[in-house]
Amino acid sequence: MGSVDAVRARFAGAVERLAELEEQRREALRERLRSFAGLCGAERVLDVGTGAGALALAIAPLVREVVAVDIVPELLADAHRRAGDGTHVSFVEGDAKALDLDSESFDLVACTRTLHHVDAPELVVSELARVTRGGGRVLVVDQIAPADAERARELNRFERARDASHSRALSDTDLRRLLAANRLNLNRSEILSENRQLDPYLDLARCEGDAREHARSLAPARDSYVAEIGWYLLDKPTLGA
Ligand SMILES: C[S@@+](CC[C@H](N)C(=O)[O-])C[C@H]1O[C@@H](n2cnc3c(N)ncnc32)[C@H](O)[C@@H]1O
Repeated sequence: MGSVDAVRARFAGAVERLAELEEQRREALRERLRSFAGLCGAERVLDVGTGAGALALAIAPLVREVVAVDIVPELLADAHRRAGDGTHVSFVEGDAKALDLDSESFDLVACTRTLHHVDAPELVVSELARVTRGGGRVLVVDQIAPADAERARELNRFERARDASHSRALSDTDLRRLLAANRLNLNRSEILSENRQLDPYLDLARCEGDAREHARSLAPARDSYVAEIGWYLLDKPTLGA
C-alpha cells in the first residue's frame, strides 16, 4: 500500500474517535499555542494535515483566518460540520507534498503530528516554507525518534506495526537539518514528554488481533512508555535578509 492509501485507510475510519480527542484537547492546545507561537491576532494561518481540525479549531479564536488542509475528505467534512458555517476557518482537501496554494500567502504555517505519516517529509517541509510569507513563521510539531540509530529503527518498527500509515519519526537532529535546509531559522524549540498507555494507544489505531500482538511484542515497554514530542517555531527570513 502506498503512503497516501495507508493514510486514507487509517484515518477515514477513525473520524469519530479523532473528533472526540480533538474536542478534549482543544483548550489545552489553545493555551499551548498562545504561549509558544507568539501570536498577534492578525495572522492568516495554514494548518497542514489538520486531521479532525486539531490546530485549526484551537487557534481560530486567536487569529484572523485559518485554512485547514488534509488528504482525508471524511475528516475535513466532519471538522467543517463541527466548526459550523460562517466561521473564519475553511477546510480544503490537498496533499501536503504539493499544496495547491499560493507562495508566500500565510503568516503562520503549522504542521502538527503529520510529518511522520509522509514518505517524503522533505517535500512537505519545502511546501511549508514556500507558502509562508517572508517574515512569517512555521510551526512543526512531531514525535521525535531517539538520536541513536538502532533505537530509532526499533521505535519506527513498533509504530509501523501499530499503524501502517506511520512512515518514519525523525530525530531532533534530522528534523532541524531538514528545516535549516529550507532556510527556516529556529526561533524556539522544546521537547515535551508524553506518557503513552500502550492499550489505549493500540486502540486508537484500531490495531487488533495478530497485528496487535505483533505490535505489542515490539513496543518500547509493556504497559506505558514516554514519547518525545518536538515543538519547533521557525522564522522565514524576508527576501534579501
Ligand atoms: C496523526 S494525524 C494529526 C492530525 C492533527 N494535525 C493533530 O495534530 O492532531 C495526521 C494527519 O495527517 C494527515 N496526512 C497524512 N499525510 C498527508 C498528506 N500527504 N497530505 C495531507 N494530509 C496528510 C492525515 O490524514 C491525518 O489527518
